[in-house]
Amino acid sequence: SKPLRIGLAGLGTVGASVLRILRRQENALAARCGRAIRVTAVSARDRTRDRGVDLGGLHWFDDPVALATSGEIDCLVELVGGSDGPAKAAVEAALAAGKSVVTANKALLAHHGIALATLAEQNGVALAFEASSAGGIPIVKTLREALAGNTVTRLYGILNGTCNYILSRMELEGLTFEACLKDAQRLGYAEADPTFDVEGYDTAHKLAILTSLAFGTTIDAEAIHVEGISSIAPLDLKMADELGYRIKLLGVAERTKTGIEQRVHPTMVPKSSAIAQVMGVLNAVTVDADAVREITLVGPGAGGDPTASAVVADIADVARGTAGLPFGLPVARLEAAVRAPMQRHEGG
Ligand code: NDP
Ligand code: HSE
Repeated sequence: SKPLRIGLAGLGTVGASVLRILRRQENALAARCGRAIRVTAVSARDRTRDRGVDLGGLHWFDDPVALATSGEIDCLVELVGGSDGPAKAAVEAALAAGKSVVTANKALLAHHGIALATLAEQNGVALAFEASSAGGIPIVKTLREALAGNTVTRLYGILNGTCNYILSRMELEGLTFEACLKDAQRLGYAEADPTFDVEGYDTAHKLAILTSLAFGTTIDAEAIHVEGISSIAPLDLKMADELGYRIKLLGVAERTKTGIEQRVHPTMVPKSSAIAQVMGVLNAVTVDADAVREITLVGPGAGGDPTASAVVADIADVARGTAGLPFGLPVARLEAAVRAPMQRHEGG
C-alpha cells in the first residue's frame, strides 16, 4: 500500500527527535504498519538553524497552515506549541482538509480539544495526542484503551517534568530555583514560556485532558484549581525533609458525589511513599479504578526522545488505521463535566 506522507510542523526539541526516530526505525515501522512512513515536508521559522538532522530533500514551508493543507501530505504532525495561533490554525486546516493530525500540544487540547475532536469526527480522520500528557508514559492509550473495562474513581500524579526536576535538584543538590530552571530549559524540558511549567498551568492542561479520558467527560480546564511551585523556597524543602516528607507538584482528579474535582498544587508526600521516589524529569500517574484497582505508570515526562517515542506511536496508529476516536467515544456521548465544589485538602 501507499506510504503515509507526513508533514512535520515544528523542528524544535520534539520535532527533530521525531524525524531522527522515524529514520532510525524506518524499516521496523514499515514492517509493523504494513506501509512506509515518509516525512515529505516540514515547517519551522528559521531555515538556517542546524537541527542536528538532515533536512535535504524535504519541502520547506514557512507557514504551518500551508504545510497542513499541502497536497504532499496525508498526516500533519503538529509540534509547534501554543493554545492558539499557528498551531491551532494548522491543526484545524489539516482536519478540515481530511488529513489526520498527531500532536503533543496539551495547551491546544486543554482549550480546544473537544472542538478539534468534533472536527476530526466530522471529517473521518484521526486526532492523536499520546505525547500531550506525561511525555513518554503511554497514559492516553492506557486510559482510552487498556482500562476500557473500568470505572475510574481517581487519577493523580506528577505531570510536569520541569517542576519535578527543579524540586528534586533543589532538594538533593541545594541548587537555587533559578539555576535548576535554566538547566531544565537547556535540556529541552521546559515550555517556550516556562511560567506555564512553574505556575502549574502545564500540569493543569494535562490533567484536563486525562480527566476527560478517565471519566468520559468533556474537557473542563477552567474548573481546575491551580497553584505552582514558584514560591517554594529551599527552607520549605528542608522543613518537609525534617518532617519526613518531600514536596511534589501533583495534579489530582477525583469523581466525588457532587461532581468532578480537579486540582494542581504542591503537596507534602511521605518520603517512604512510591511517589516520593519519582525524581528528576520522571513523571508518574496513578489510576484508581474498580476492576484493576490501582495502577501506576512511571517514566520520562519531558525531553525530545521520550516525547517523540509517544508521537511516533501515534503516527504508527495513523499509518495502520488503528488510531480510533480521540477520546475513545463519539464527542456527543461524552458527559458534560460537572464541577465539584472545592474541598480543603491537607497533604493532597
Ligand atoms: P520548541 O520550542 O523546541 O520547538 C517549536 C518549533 O516550532 C520550532 O522548530 C519553531 O521553529 C517552530 N515554530 C514556532 N512558531 C512557529 C511559527 N509561527 N511558524 C512555524 N514554525 C514555528 O518546542 P518543543 O519541541 O519543546 O515542543 C513542541 C510541542 O510539544 C509543544 O506543544 C510542547 O508543549 C509539546 N511537548 C514538549 C515536550 C518537551 O519535553 N519539550 C514534551 C511534551 C510535549 P524554529 O525552530 O525555527 O524556531
Ligand atoms: N514542559 C513540559 C514538562 C514538557 O516539563 O513536563 C512535557 O510535557
